[in-house]
Amino acid sequence: MFKTVPTTPFDDQKPGTSGLRKKVPEFQQKNYVENFIQSVFDSLEGFKGKTLVIGGDGRYYNREVVQIALKMAAANGFGKVLVGQGGILSTPAASNVIRKYKAFGGLVLSASHNPGGPTEDFGIKYNIGNGGPAPEKITEAIFARSKTITQYVIAEAPDVDIDTIGTQKLAGMDVEILDPVADYAALMEELFDFDAIRALIKSGFTLRFDSMHAVTGPYGKEILEHRLGAPEGTCVNFVPLPDFGGHHPDPNLVYAKDLYDLLMSPDGPDFGAASDGDGDRNLIIGKGIFITPSDSLAMLAANAHLAPGYKAGLKGIARSMPTSGAADRVAEKLKIGMYETPTGWKFFGNLLDAGMATICGEESAGTGSNHVREKDGLWAVLLWLNILAVRRVSAIEIAKEHWATYGRNYYSRHDYEGVDTAAANTLIDDLRARLPKLPGTSVQGLTIETADDFAYHDPVDKSVSKHQGIRVLFEGGSRVVFRLSGTGTSGATIRVYVERYEPDPKRHDLETQSALADLIRAAEDLAGIKVHTGRDKPSVIT
Ligand code: G6P
Ligand code: ZN
Repeated sequence: MFKTVPTTPFDDQKPGTSGLRKKVPEFQQKNYVENFIQSVFDSLEGFKGKTLVIGGDGRYYNREVVQIALKMAAANGFGKVLVGQGGILSTPAASNVIRKYKAFGGLVLSASHNPGGPTEDFGIKYNIGNGGPAPEKITEAIFARSKTITQYVIAEAPDVDIDTIGTQKLAGMDVEILDPVADYAALMEELFDFDAIRALIKSGFTLRFDSMHAVTGPYGKEILEHRLGAPEGTCVNFVPLPDFGGHHPDPNLVYAKDLYDLLMSPDGPDFGAASDGDGDRNLIIGKGIFITPSDSLAMLAANAHLAPGYKAGLKGIARSMPTSGAADRVAEKLKIGMYETPTGWKFFGNLLDAGMATICGEESAGTGSNHVREKDGLWAVLLWLNILAVRRVSAIEIAKEHWATYGRNYYSRHDYEGVDTAAANTLIDDLRARLPKLPGTSVQGLTIETADDFAYHDPVDKSVSKHQGIRVLFEGGSRVVFRLSGTGTSGATIRVYVERYEPDPKRHDLETQSALADLIRAAEDLAGIKVHTGRDKPSVIT
């Protein structure tokens, strides 16, 4: 019933910011998927007879990998596997299923916002029993194991019918196929005032939710149109496709430009939102205003008590280091803890588990709370809608009032994608070497106050994560941050994060890039991006 298959290691199965991500043809190499999954199982202890969750964002190769994972779970001794129907579970829904059914852990199949298709991206991520991405200790063990693996075990059995809800047997193991939406929708109903949102929509408030042909299609349809009464047509691009219709399922101003243009036009809807490939990211655009993810975190935190799930108030806020400091000012006012973590949702897990933070967010369009242990795109949309439904003002009014109260953090990220990896590393190394000499010097008329290579000391498990990005802080609260992306699949991506704090309400209506122009020039002067990479402008500005 089970067979042991000899194999040889691959040397490139190192999980990045969010699991192992590679092009599909790399995953299709003989034993590549099997080696990685076996390395995951070999790095875990005590799962015999326990439950595993498997689901993915439906991209190309999802169904094949679900079958392999199921057969390997059976051979490795799991007692039961919960699978989203069709192999589908959005990342936050997978996190919820792991928590709700007290599973041992889960395999989440996704490459998030990266394109899908036969020559595009695929990914496998392991989540632990709290529903969140495995911490570095585990991902490092997986990588170490992947370099020494000599065999894997797999059930010799026909494929499981993953399209029919209900329980089946696979080589003695139970396999239960679940409705991927039901548990998630029920959780959202607990957190948010659906009656208030329904009344808002009934009063004529219009919205558009763009699923970018990715996993949130069925979730958006069920929740926004069926349960909240938004008219048909509110959800667009809601049919999930294995190649996302040939687009990048990345909800930013480049790949969701149509939505942005619509919200900027006088006859567009009142509110627009989009989510990414696996449903954990969000894009929020009010009529006439794009809300940056960093601002969205701050505004949601300031208003969260208006939603039933957060009416007791927040215990703390956490943000990744490159995320703007807007939320810090909210935490200060609410007199609650504020935590600054490295990029990667996994760093929030301990703070959420320890009850130190309730809401978390990242500049990379991720926002979420202690309801699951992943960021959650639709959750952010629903919290915005709940706030709008209670306050009965527009998103732009919420933003303006927020800035008037707390000041505005102008913020932008400049990405240099597909850069030669060696050149990108040299740029960072050179900058790091110069850090000690920077404080007290000036660049573009700005005086550098401090400069460091961010290291995180986890207050819960006391682990230390070094080299998490280079920060240059200027007098007056402006800063630039440089780091290399940990999620790319070809070459390197240099991210430059630029931020200026502006307390004066008379200066809250500037165009972002011009408000940041001197800092952008300072970033170039500091890092020598042109010299190192040959690029004279970023590939993406968000
Ligand atoms: C994924 C992770 C996030 C992270 C983002 C950007 O979406 O889940 O936590 O912020 O990638 O990471 P990167 O390393 O590419 O900047
Ligand atoms: Zn994602």
